[in-house]
Order: sequence, then C-alpha cells, then structure tokens
Amino acid sequence: MSLTPAFLDELRARTTLSALIGRSVKITRAGREWKACCPFHNEKTPSFTINDDKGFYHCFGCGAHGDAIRWLTDQQGLPFIDAVKELAAAAGMDVPQADPRAAEKAEKAKGLHEAMANAAKFYADQLHGIAGAEARAILERRGINADTARAFGLGYAPDSRTKLKEALKSYGDPMLVEAGMLIQVENKEPYDRFRGRLMIPINDARGRVIAFGGRIIGEGEPKYLNSPETPLFDKGRTLYNLDRAAAASRKTGRIIAVEGYMDVIALAQAGFGEAVAPLGTALTEHQIERLWRMADVPLLAFDGDSAGQKAAIRAAHRALPHLAPGRSLAFVTLPNGQDPDDLVRSAGPQAFEALLAAAQPLADRIWHHELAAEPLETPEARAGLKRRLSDLAATIQDGNVRHEYVAEFRNRFDAHFAPAPRSFSPRTPFKPGKPGQRWQPPEPPPSPATQALGATGIDRVLAKAILAGLIRHPAEIARHMETLSSLRLADNALGRLFEAVVDVALEDQALDTARLRTILAASGFDSVASELLRADTLPFTFTQKEWDAGRASLDLGEAIAVLAARPQVDAALAEATAAVQARFSDEAFERQVALVRRKAELESRLANLMLADDD
Ligand code: UTP
Ligand code: MN
Repeated sequence: MSLTPAFLDELRARTTLSALIGRSVKITRAGREWKACCPFHNEKTPSFTINDDKGFYHCFGCGAHGDAIRWLTDQQGLPFIDAVKELAAAAGMDVPQADPRAAEKAEKAKGLHEAMANAAKFYADQLHGIAGAEARAILERRGINADTARAFGLGYAPDSRTKLKEALKSYGDPMLVEAGMLIQVENKEPYDRFRGRLMIPINDARGRVIAFGGRIIGEGEPKYLNSPETPLFDKGRTLYNLDRAAAASRKTGRIIAVEGYMDVIALAQAGFGEAVAPLGTALTEHQIERLWRMADVPLLAFDGDSAGQKAAIRAAHRALPHLAPGRSLAFVTLPNGQDPDDLVRSAGPQAFEALLAAAQPLADRIWHHELAAEPLETPEARAGLKRRLSDLAATIQDGNVRHEYVAEFRNRFDAHFAPAPRSFSPRTPFKPGKPGQRWQPPEPPPSPATQALGATGIDRVLAKAILAGLIRHPAEIARHMETLSSLRLADNALGRLFEAVVDVALEDQALDTARLRTILAASGFDSVASELLRADTLPFTFTQKEWDAGRASLDLGEAIAVLAARPQVDAALAEATAAVQARFSDEAFERQVALVRRKAELESRLANLMLADDD
C-alpha cells in the first residue's frame, strides 16, 4: 500500500496548520487568519499569513506558499516521508507501510539512531571525566568554551579498542558495526573505530546524531577520522551543523559554508550560528541545493590555501547549471592561507563580518579564475580564454541567467583587452592592454572639480587643436556655438583665448581668419594665436594650413563633440568606480563597465580623427 491522496487529505484536514507553525514561529491572530513575520525571508512587518480553513500558509512578501507537509519539508528540512509520519503521529493516524521490509528497515533505523545517540552521550561523558583531560585542554587551547562544547555535543573517545563496545553492549556488535562505530575485519572480534580522539557528532536536519568526526589529539594521521557511510549517513547529502544553522539562517537571512568542523564551531562561538561544512569532500550538487533552500546567495568561506581555493572553484562550476534569477553563490577569500577559525581567533568577528560583506560574486570569481589560469600573450591563448568562458556560461540551464553571463563575460573580455587610449602624438606606438594582467577596476579619473577644459594633459592638447581649428575655420564657430559656450574652460591663457574667440564670433557672424586675428590682436592675444596657427605638429586636418575644408569642418565638429562629452563621462565613471570600490554590486559594476566602454569609444573617435604619419 502507498500513500493515497485520500490519506494525505485526511492528514491535512486533521492538522491545525497554525498550531504546527506556531511551534516554531511567533504567530498572532488576524481575523479568521493568523499572521507572522515570514520565516522564509527576513522581514520586520508580518506578511506571512496562515489560513487554517484552507490549510495553507502564504507569504505576500516572498511568495512562500504551502500546506502542513510543505512546511515540514521546506521549513524544517524533513524528507517528505518523515513529514508525513510526524503529522500522522500528531493526528493519531497510522501511516500505511509500503511493505514489511520497509517496516523492518524503519525499525532498524530507529535502533541505529538510538545507538548513535547513546554513543554521543558516552563520548560527552568521557570528555568531562578523568580520561578527557587532554581533550579538554585542547579545546581550551583553541579557545572553545564549555558552553560551545556542550552545544555541539563534543566528546572524547578513550584510547581503547573496547570501551565504546562495552558501553553499548546492549545493541549487539552487528548493529554497532552497521552504525560504523565498530570495525570488523573478516571474522575477527569487532573493535572501537574511534580511539583517542576528540569526537564531533554529526547530526541530520532534525538534530539526530547520524555520524561522527574524530580529531586526533595532537599530531598524527589522519587528522580527522570520519564515520563510514551507513544507512543513516550519506556523506554527500549531509552538511555539518545543518540542524542548528538552518534556524540561525532564518534570522540572519544568510548561510555560510566553510571547510571544517572546527571552523563551524569557532564561528558559532563568535556569533555566526549560520555556518555549515561539507564533510571533507567538495560541495556536492545536493549540498548546494540544500544551501539554496536557506538563502539565495550562500557565502562560501573556504580556506585561503590552494586546496581551499580549488574546492571553491569546483563548487562554482557545480553551481552554474542550477543558477536561477537571484540565485547564486558568493565567495569570501580568507587572507594568508587562514581558515575562518584562525581568522576569528586572531582578528575577531568584525574581521570576518567585513570579509562577508565584501564577498565576491560568482561571475567575478569565475572570470578571475579563468583569467589567471594561463598566460594570455598570444591571440590563440586569448581565444582559448574566450572559449572557456563561453563553455562555462553554456552550462547554465536558465536562459535568462545564461544570457547575462554570456554578456558579462564578453564585456569583461572586451574591457580587459581593449587597446589603451591612443596618446596624442601620432608617433606613439599602439599599445594594447597588457596581456595576462589581472582585471582591475579602472583608476578613477580626476574629480570633476579639476576637469575644467584645457587645464590638464590630453584635454589641453585637444583644446589647443580645436582653438587652432576655429581660428583657421571661423565659420565653424557659429555652427558649434551652443556646444562651445557650454564648455567649462580653464582659467589660463588658452581658456581666455577660447572665450575671446567665441565672443568675437557672437558679435560678428561673417568672420574670416584675417579679421578674427586682427580683433584678437587688439585684445592682446596675437602671440598666443600665432603660436597656435604655427602648430602643425597637432595631427588634425583642421589644424593644417592646406586641407580640404569640407573634411576639416567635419573633423572639427567631431572633435568638439568629443571634447564636450568627455568631462561628463569622466565624472560619471569616477562616481561609478567609487561606488564599486565602496561596495561591490553587479549593478554598479555594470554601470562602471558601460562607462569604461563609453570612454574608450570617445578615445577611439578621437584617434580616428588624427592624421597618420603618411596622411
Ligand atoms: P582541515 O585540515 O582544514 O582542518 O580540514 P581544520 O578544520 O582546519 O582542522 P584543525 O583546525 O586543524 O583542527 C578541513 C576538513 O576536512 C576534513 C574534515 O572534515 C575537516 O574539518 N578532513 C581533514 C578529513 O576528513 N580528514 C582529514 O584527515 C583532514
Ligand atoms: Mn583549522
């Protein structure tokens, strides 16, 4: 017999949803319904409602929705069948057994659970007894206090092959072997697996002990000995501390994955209750899915050594196919090969909090990893990078997210390998961005306050060229009057000449070069003006004495447009760069990238205007 819809309906009907939810969440009456702060997302005003008549809960904030079974699976992390059993027990209903073997298996699991619970109790007692002195000293040296040790159920396995076996005699050797607590080699006498170790119980989502990790006291190999896989313990589906962290993550809205047991324990003591760890293996897809049930963007804070970083990138690759809008991973890089345990001990919780706040988005992590993977000195190598990035993006199943990754990687690639802006001397050789260099946010340009035209470097040369062009082609002044009068000019000879030229043109629409020069001379600008006109070193059509007037006029118009647009782009870029540096967000980063491209575009428009050596 299986679970029929009729059985499940009956089960729902007999369950008072508000009472069930009220066991773990503070609920208040609101008319015919109940209200609460939503346990699925972080909020201060309640948008979570429970309707007992309909047997549903619904959150108007995050859309969480479900019935009593869904509550137990999604919120409490129970497997479906366990949820049904728990509700049935409360409602006084018998769950139909699939077959006698299933019943037997359930019986056995019950026995195993009990044996594990008793083993944990035995180890904990040992830790606090005479034999546990050395283990207690280790905890003390590591700064783990008695409350933390108790909360995590830490224990000590005495250095003996028989002590546990004796203590749990009533379960019989076969069950203890199956539970992984005894080792049996062929037909020899079974003996204790864990000897002389600090014992760390591993719980399932419901807080039942299903396995142990045992750390050696002092030096030796292996440093950690873990339970083998058993009917209760599936390593790839278990996260250390999931039971406690799930509750903590509901309060903070985040979940942190670290590498080791001790990291989890040290973090909890430092106030970060929402940390979990895989069990000595890379994060599996199943574990990542489990993390996503607690937070949209789990934070991975793996060790700063190369093994830790490798594990981080492996998790990144595993997560890609399962990304969804809003659902990602972020990476916390620990300094100098430290682990979170070292860090909170040496630098305190604020240091870790600061690292969490600066976590690196998944796309950024992947980009930097691929960028650093190989030298990129040749076109073939760069094409290889492009290929690897697009292959990775292609593994993303969600169409929208995949599309964004493709665009993001393309933008980053283009920005990274874009040619450096050309300098104004036509003899300066073309310089591409240094291949293989790490992508860095662009240096912020000088603040707008120092951006008056003609005050500095490149703008000064451009302003000079345009001024020379205007004196050579005075008819153009009227045409660009609006743009020209909107320029912010530096307070120097050049700026004043600029103003004078524009003023003269305003009075007199029918200027020619000779007339303009006469008027400028009368105002004391003669020498500056003649110097400008001698400047055929300036590599533009409009600064040359002999050039096609039509082309010169077009080029001059383009140069004026670039000159006018640049301060605005520079100011916006400075702002976007500061925003990215203050607090990284994809949105700020995209704005920054777009502005870097705008700026590069202006530079290349300008470069196009310049005469080549052989023109
Ligand atoms: P680490 O070697 O980084 O341990 O292994 P740690 O947490 O920093 O331990 P301490 O601070 O030296 O006590 C990280 C995790 O890898 C698994 C364990 O789960 C450990 O927590 N591991 C490590 C093993 O399973 N076996 C080992 O021999 C070593
Ligand atoms: Mn450590």
